[in-house]
Amino acid sequence: MTTEPLRLAGALAFILGWLGLSFNMWRVHRNGRAAEAQDADWLVVHASQTGSAEALAKRSAELLATGGLAANTVCISSLDRDRLAGATRVLFVASTYGEGDAPDTAAQFAGRLMAAGLDLSHLHYAVLALGDRNYANFCGFGRALDAWLAQQGATRLFDRIDVDRGDATALAAWQHHVGRLAGTMDAPDWDAPAYGDWRIVARTLENPGSAGAPLYRIALAPASGALPDWEAGDLAQVSPPSDPEHPREYSIASLPIEGRLELLVRLQRREDGSPGAASGWLCGQAAGGDIVRLRLRAHERFRLGANAQRPLIAIGNGSGLAGLRGLLKARIAKGQIDNWLLFGERNQIHDFLLRDELQAWRDDGQLAHLDLAFSRDQAERRYVQDVLRDRADRLRAWVERGAAIYVCGSLQGMAGGVHEALQAILGSAQLDALAQEGRYRRDVY
Ligand SMILES: Cc1cc2nc3c(=O)[nH]c(=O)nc-3n(C[C@H](O)[C@H](O)[C@H](O)COP(=O)(O)OP(=O)(O)OC[C@H]3O[C@@H](n4cnc5c(N)ncnc54)[C@H](O)[C@@H]3O)c2cc1C
Ligand SMILES: Cc1cc2nc3c(=O)[nH]c(=O)nc-3n(C[C@H](O)[C@H](O)[C@H](O)COP(=O)(O)O)c2cc1C
Repeated sequence: MTTEPLRLAGALAFILGWLGLSFNMWRVHRNGRAAEAQDADWLVVHASQTGSAEALAKRSAELLATGGLAANTVCISSLDRDRLAGATRVLFVASTYGEGDAPDTAAQFAGRLMAAGLDLSHLHYAVLALGDRNYANFCGFGRALDAWLAQQGATRLFDRIDVDRGDATALAAWQHHVGRLAGTMDAPDWDAPAYGDWRIVARTLENPGSAGAPLYRIALAPASGALPDWEAGDLAQVSPPSDPEHPREYSIASLPIEGRLELLVRLQRREDGSPGAASGWLCGQAAGGDIVRLRLRAHERFRLGANAQRPLIAIGNGSGLAGLRGLLKARIAKGQIDNWLLFGERNQIHDFLLRDELQAWRDDGQLAHLDLAFSRDQAERRYVQDVLRDRADRLRAWVERGAAIYVCGSLQGMAGGVHEALQAILGSAQLDALAQEGRYRRDVY
C-alpha cells in the first residue's frame, strides 16, 4: 500500500524530468535557429517585384560593408518570426504593387506576420519605400510596413524615406543616412545605370483591324557597338523624349542570339486622346534614324533561374506575350519542350499575336499545349482564367510533376482572374507554397 504513492511520485518526477529536458532541447534548438538567423550585424531586407528594391538593398548592404559592418541582404519572403527575433538592426527596402499592396514576394509576410502581433522591442530599423505618385496609395506597402514595425515596439533609426519613381534626391537622403550608420560619409552618390543609344530596325503592326489598341512588334539594335547581354525574363527601360526623367518598362521578347532586342508595345492613349509618352514614341513618332534611349534591367524574379529544368506553364494576355515568348524561346533553344502556353486576346482573326511562330512550335512538339482564349469570339466572354479552370486536371498533374507557373500581362482583369483560378484549382495553401518556392512568378503591370 505505501509503495503506491512512492511509485506515483517516482513516475511524476520522471515525467517532469523528461519534460524539462525536452524544453531545454527545444530552447537550445530555438536559440540555435535564432543565432543562425542572426548571422550578421545587419539585415537588409528587400520586398521587390521587378528588382529595383532588391538592387537598392544590395547597394545599401555594400555601403554598410564599406564601413566594416557585416550585412546580409535577404528577400522578405525568407523573414519569419525566428529571423526577426534574432535580428537587431534591419534596413527594409520595399516597393508597392497593385493598388497600394505588397509585392508578391511580401504577400506571406504581409498576410501572416503583419496580421499577428510580435514583440519587436529589441529591433532598430529604417524603411526605404519605393513607389509612384501616380498611384492613389503612394508607397502604400512601405508605409504599412513602417507603421507595423513601430506598433510592434521596434525603434526607427531615422524616418521612412519615400521615393517617387526613383527620385534621386530621396535616394541620396537614404544613402546619406545609411552612410552615417556605416560611418562612411564620403561614398560617391549612387548613379542610376546609364542609358544606351538604340535605333529601331523594324516595326510591324501585329493586330491590324483589332478592336483593341494597336500593338507593335519593335526590334531595336544599339546605334553603335555590340549588343549587350540579357536573359529571358529581363526588362528594357525606355526614357521617352517628352518625359525623360521617368522611364517606362517593357518586357523583352527576344534572346541575344537573335541579334536584336524585340518588344511588343501597345500604343496607349491618354484621356485627351494624345498618345502615351513612351508607347507613342516607340509605336509612331520615332523614325528609323532617331535615337531611342534605352537600358536593360535584370528581372531576376522572372528569369527561369532555378526553374530551368521544370515543366513550364506560361500564362498571359496581350503584350504579356512578350515576356512569355522570351522564356519559351530560351527553353526551346535548349531543347526543353515541356512547355504549356495559355494566351488570351480579343478576336482570333485580328489578335492572334505571333500566330505563325506559336503554331509552328505546337506543330513541332515544342509546345506540348497551346490553349487560346479569344474573349470576343463567342457570345459569352471567355478569358485565360476560364480556360485554366477547364484544364484544372491537367494543371494539377503538371504542378504535381514539378511545373513552374509564369504569368505575364495585365494586372487588371487577367492577373487577378488567373490568381483566383489557380487558388480554386490548387488551393490557397499550395499556391502560397509555390510562390514561396519561386514556382509561381509574375510580371504583371
Ligand atoms: C514590369 C512591366 C513590364 C511592362 N511590359 C510591357 C510590355 O511588354 N508591353 C507594353 O506595351 N507595355 C508594358 N508595360 C507598360 C509600359 O511600361 C507603359 O506603362 C505603357 O507603355 C504606357 O506608357 P506611355 O508612356 O506610353 O503612357 P503614359 O504617358 O505613361 O500614359 C499612360 C496612362 O497613364 C496616365 N497618364 C500618365 N501621365 C499622364 C498625363 N500627364 N496626363 C494624362 N494622363 C496621364 C493615363 O491614364 C494614360 O493612359 C510594362 C510595365 C511594367 C511595370
Ligand atoms: C502594376 C503596378 C502597380 C503599382 N502600384 C503602386 C501603388 O499602388 N503605389 C505606389 O506608390 N507605387 C506603385 N507602383 C510603383 C512601384 O512601386 C515602383 O515602380 C517601384 O519602384 C517598383 O520597385 P521594384 O522593382 O522593386 O518592384 C506600381 C507599379 C506597377 C507596375
